Amino acid sequence: MKEQKKKLKLKVSAISQGTVIDHIPSENLFDVISILELDKTPNMITFGANLDSDKLVNKAIIKVSNQFFENDEINKIALIAPHAKLNIIKDYEVVEKKVVEIPDQVVGIVKCFNPKCITNAEPITTSFSVISKSPVALKCKYCEKITNESQMVIK
Ligand code: CTP
Ligand code: ZN
Repeated sequence: MKEQKKKLKLKVSAISQGTVIDHIPSENLFDVISILELDKTPNMITFGANLDSDKLVNKAIIKVSNQFFENDEINKIALIAPHAKLNIIKDYEVVEKKVVEIPDQVVGIVKCFNPKCITNAEPITTSFSVISKSPVALKCKYCEKITNESQMVIK
């Protein structure tokens, strides 16, 4: 069983320097890539989806070589990958592990649930204050309506 697990891990090769973002729900992999602007990075990225995990039935992993993220950047993915774990890799070794935290403000990323909100009519970046983190509740800065966890749609 242990050998089998090791083989699974090796499906996406190890990196020498950079960041490994593990335990992403597979269905949100491409949203995470877009939120972190990895579609624009010049650095090498490798990723895998639908991998087995003890915690998630379907997890995805992203490995970004030679790139390290600020906490406020990485916390942007907390809404869609709340259990994501970051591993900072230097000389092939994991030198630090970080978890993501839901920030106090959410800019962009999600849609306002209110169909009449101006952000749904015009190309305006959404902006919310987080009034509850568990379960998530976001208060729109434009219309003041609440979007809760079950109503959250990625913009
Ligand atoms: N990793 C990598 N390149 C390295 C070292 C590690 O891509 N040079 C990846 C591993 O494949 C793994 C993650 O970084 O997906 C974390 O590595 P490690 O802490 O060794 O694995 P676990 O103990 O399984 O971590 P956790 O229990 O936190 O998931
Ligand atoms: Zn609104």
